[in-house]
Amino acid sequence: MACHSLDDCSRAGIQFRCNDSRYVCLWGFGRTEWRPYVPIQSLPCRQRGVFTADSFEHNSDLLLTSSYGFSCDHTPGFASWSILPWLHRLEGKVAIITGGASGIGEATARLFVAHGALVLIADIQDKLGAELAQELAPNASFHHCDITQEQDVEALVDAAVRQHGRLDIMYNNAGVVGSINTSILDVNIEEMDKLYAVNVRGTLLGTKHAARVMIPVRNGVILATASIAGVMGGTGPLLYSISKCATAGIIKSVSAELGQHGIRVNCISPSGVPTPLAVSLFQEQFPGITIPQVEDYMRNMSALKGVLLVAEDVARAALFLASDDASFISGHNLIVDGGFTASKAIPS
Ligand SMILES: NC(=O)c1ccc[n+]([C@@H]2O[C@H](COP(=O)([O-])OP(=O)(O)OC[C@H]3O[C@@H](n4cnc5c(N)ncnc54)[C@H](O)[C@@H]3O)[C@@H](O)[C@H]2O)c1
Repeated sequence: MACHSLDDCSRAGIQFRCNDSRYVCLWGFGRTEWRPYVPIQSLPCRQRGVFTADSFEHNSDLLLTSSYGFSCDHTPGFASWSILPWLHRLEGKVAIITGGASGIGEATARLFVAHGALVLIADIQDKLGAELAQELAPNASFHHCDITQEQDVEALVDAAVRQHGRLDIMYNNAGVVGSINTSILDVNIEEMDKLYAVNVRGTLLGTKHAARVMIPVRNGVILATASIAGVMGGTGPLLYSISKCATAGIIKSVSAELGQHGIRVNCISPSGVPTPLAVSLFQEQFPGITIPQVEDYMRNMSALKGVLLVAEDVARAALFLASDDASFISGHNLIVDGGFTASKAIPS
């Protein structure tokens, strides 16, 4: 059965059930070409419970489906839809996302759940993480995990296997930025140890314990969030930049060994994203700066004009790398920076 419009959905008796009362989203497709991820319209969900495609204004170029940013799921009838593989690119996959309570991790948890994954949100921010898991339930759960502690990471991975029978995707995303201080002369070794405990040791531990359960089944994807600060000097605080070089280094180094077991290992290096981490750094440097001002600063810095990099953009990069679309991509550092590190304008 192929449904090409809301009319088709109605005729096929397809119903959509919204679990909470936030939003349903209409995603558009042209007559000849799918245009994924371009939300044409977001409608407040006016009612809880079951409603059909007829509940919405008919428009033959609109397709009602579920996506990230809200909880709207579907009846089994939807499962026979011809575009299901495209819509649910992580159907049934079990994923851990560290730092999943906020920023990039939160956006990724929402997107992965929307694409059919079962997500374990791991973080030290218990309240935020638990609230998000509750919102995304039943396909998400929260697990307190301090990634600097090996016993926490081991327990987290074991929880995934215990709850769901396996671990398909490990996204080592949690990170800290440390202080703005950028001079080698002012390096504070204690601060370095704290930063490395999260960005380097935490990523290594997540990779180690994910590999422990993935190797025997010869299946899995391991991801990490590095940064353009680890790609190009001077784009972040010194210690942070060095730590992110190490994050990318872990990924490249282990990809050789894990490739032997069919496990793909990749990282993502975003430029500035206005998350709590980046905003706090700006506020340290420019006391009193507001979030819109941080966003303007990031827009102005960007080599790609007219767009602001947001957490959802990074989440989509993670979705790509985690999905079968990237089935032959391993050992890669996917830079998501609108070309910032690819060129330097020569003053004229
Ligand atoms: N925001 C940016 O501009 C930017 C750019 C490039 C890379 N990154 C990287 O993206 C990743 C996500 O950061 P974000 O920007 O979403 O920031 P964020 O502060 O919104 O999220 C980071 C999350 O990591 C969690 N965390 C910190 N220490 C932890 C620990 N020991 N154990 C478990 N969780 C811990 C925090 O509680 C938080 O929820 C980080 O690795 C960061 O370095 C961010």
